Formats: sequence, C-alpha cells, structure tokens
Amino acid sequence: MLSMSIVTSQTIYDESKVPTFEVPDPLVTFGGEKINSVRKWEKVRRPELLKFFENNVYGKLPKALKIDSYTILEQDNNALNGKAKRKQVQLTFKNNDKILSFTILLYLPKNLDKAPVFLGYNFYGNHTITEDKAVLISTAWANNNEDFGIENHTLIEESRGKRTHRWAVEKILDAGYGLATIYYGEVDPDKNDFSDGVHNLLYQQTQRQPKPDEWGSIAAWSWGMVRALDYFEKDPEIDATKVISFGHSRLGKTSLWAGATDVRFAGVISNNSGCGGAALSKRKFGETVGRINTSFPHWFCDNFDQYSDNEEALPVDQHQLLALIAPRPLYVASAQEDEWADPKGEFLSSYYASSVYELYGKKGIGTMEMPKVNEPIQNTVAYHIRTGKHDVTDYDWENYIKWANAFVK
Ligand code: GCU
Repeated sequence: MLSMSIVTSQTIYDESKVPTFEVPDPLVTFGGEKINSVRKWEKVRRPELLKFFENNVYGKLPKALKIDSYTILEQDNNALNGKAKRKQVQLTFKNNDKILSFTILLYLPKNLDKAPVFLGYNFYGNHTITEDKAVLISTAWANNNEDFGIENHTLIEESRGKRTHRWAVEKILDAGYGLATIYYGEVDPDKNDFSDGVHNLLYQQTQRQPKPDEWGSIAAWSWGMVRALDYFEKDPEIDATKVISFGHSRLGKTSLWAGATDVRFAGVISNNSGCGGAALSKRKFGETVGRINTSFPHWFCDNFDQYSDNEEALPVDQHQLLALIAPRPLYVASAQEDEWADPKGEFLSSYYASSVYELYGKKGIGTMEMPKVNEPIQNTVAYHIRTGKHDVTDYDWENYIKWANAFVK
C-alpha cells in the first residue's frame, strides 16, 4: 500500500508531553445527537462508528466468502500425555479459480463434550506453541527471524516449542477450555505486498491491491478468525457460543477488530495491542499513527494515512473500537515495560469505552485511576498492567481464565 507518512515528531514517553485533547464521546453521534438507550446505540451509533472504522481505519472486506470445505488433517483423542483431544483442521476457500487454505490447531479438554474455546493467532507457526511432535509445520511464507532459525521465509522444525511460554495450554485445558490457534501467515503473509494471501483471493479480475477503503492485513487476519468461528459452529465438540478471541500485539489489534465486527465472539482479549489496538491514538504516547503507517503500511487501509501525524483530525478514537464489543466481556492488558504500546492509553481507552457497557447495565472499569501493577480490575470490562515486558505470560493467562470463568463461561 501507499506510504506517504513522513514522521517528524519525537516519540513521547513523558506524560507531561501528552497533548490535551477532547475524547470523542461514544454516546454522541457524529451529528451531535445524544444516545441514551441500547436501542439507539444499536440502531444509530454503533453502525456509524463501525462504518467509520471500516472505511477509514482497518478497511472493509471486498465481499463475503464462505468456507468451501474443511478437512481434518489429523486427530488424536489422547494427546499431551492423555490430557487432551487434538485436531488439526484445514479450512479451504475458493474464488475465481483461486484457492486459499489455513489450518487450525485445536486442543480440547478430554472430559468435556462441548468446550468453550480461546482462539488466537500465533506469529511463527502452530508448532511453536507446543513441544507436541504431531503438530504440523506450515509451508506458508514467514518473516525471517534468527531466533526461530527462519531463513528464506520458511518455518522449520528447530523452532518447535519455542513459544510455549506464551501459550499456557495446560492451564487452559485444566480450567475447562479448549485452545485454537492458527499461523497468521497462512491467512495473509505479514509484508507490504498484496499479491498473496486472502487479498489476492478476493481481487476483482484486474485488481492488484486493495482500494483505499478496503482491508489491510489486520482486517484480513480478523476475517480468518471469523471464518474459524464459522467452522466451530459445525464442530460438535466446540461450544461456538463461548468462543473468546485472543491476540497479542498486532494480533491483539486483530482480536479486537474480529470482536468488533462479529458479535458471535462471546468475549475479547487484547494483550499489549497498543497503537491501532486498545491504546488511544490522540495521546500520541509511544507508537503513533504516523509511525505505524510508516513501518507497517499494509496493516491498515490507505485511508488511515490521512491521520498520520494528524490524530487531531480523527473524529473517533480507539475506545470507540472497544465500545463496539459491548456488552460482551472485554479484557485489555498491558505490561509495565511496554511503553511503546502506551499502557495508560490502553487503560483510559477501556475506561472511556465503559459508558456503553453501563448503558447495557454491565459493569465497566469504573474508575479513571489506573490500577497498580499486578492488581487487575475484573468486571465485564477488565484491565491489568503486569510487571515485565511486551509478551504473553502465565500471569496474563491466569487472569484471562479467572475473568472468563466469571463473565463468559
Ligand atoms: C511493532 C509495532 C506494534 C506491534 C508489534 C507486534 O512493535 O510497532 O504496533 O504491536 O510490533 O506486533 O509485535
């Protein structure tokens, strides 16, 4: 996509340098009308906000596309030392003689007929989330990465289990949830090139890249999560009414957009999603709209570039993305050393989204005072900031499970 942003400003890491700005009210329409009922929120305000984010931030889908077929590639009812059922399910999509497939790795608790599930993408292949030798290695394009031994954009055996610390599989299963994960590169390779992945699948005959209001990569990845949910509705072992979308960082932005666009997600988790995710853009703290559009021009739609170094002009902010998830449970989490993602901006955003939850009679964040480190606030809207860096830890999962037990299960 185009990258016209020229970033001139210094990164703000000092609260006193945060500009003053007006927080756009989720409960006042662009035309100035006050929203005071759930009915009006759902009929008037929610649709106009969703449309704004679709046309100007993440980009809209060019057309609807259903699963053409699915194949259980592999299955074992005695996986992980007899603890879980494992399934690897390939979904296939077809359009204009083109084809795209991606594979969901599923672990389900053995003792449940129908399991609620956490669904989230991984960065370097399904085989990185576990030591389990049976997990298939994707052949899709990958970003090169020395730590994962990835050269020539190819995922390899040596990185099996390299990301187990980010996926508390046992804790999840013991708590009575399944885990479903997908390698995000199978849906759309993470590079500024729109010749492949689901974009290419859905182009009109002569099209080579998305139109200015059409989907970037985040919307494409969200699409994949939504299609996985379509599959869950067909799988008798999964309770599709209790699927929680989860994601870290760019995939946390993805989880939020999936939850905003598809109300079938029963809960939504944003782990350290930062700019373009849970963090308020107008604070310009850490990563800014200009920075993200320069470094990752393919993540958002081209229309979003008009707000690069121009956040003042945005008629919305990211708390209104969070509000689109109401009244469904929402968890926003930050890490103390992850200043780039602006923990305070992520907290305030969940606070400002809470007015819409309250309209539904649900408990939001309830206080503008940021909680202390490692002291979660858990209501229908939940927030924590933990010690440590940009990552997903057992502490995060323990809290997601506790909150899901109380508000989703
Ligand atoms: C970069 C990017 C962030 C993103 C992160 C990630 O740091 O600037 O916006 O969240 O990568 O996805 O790991």
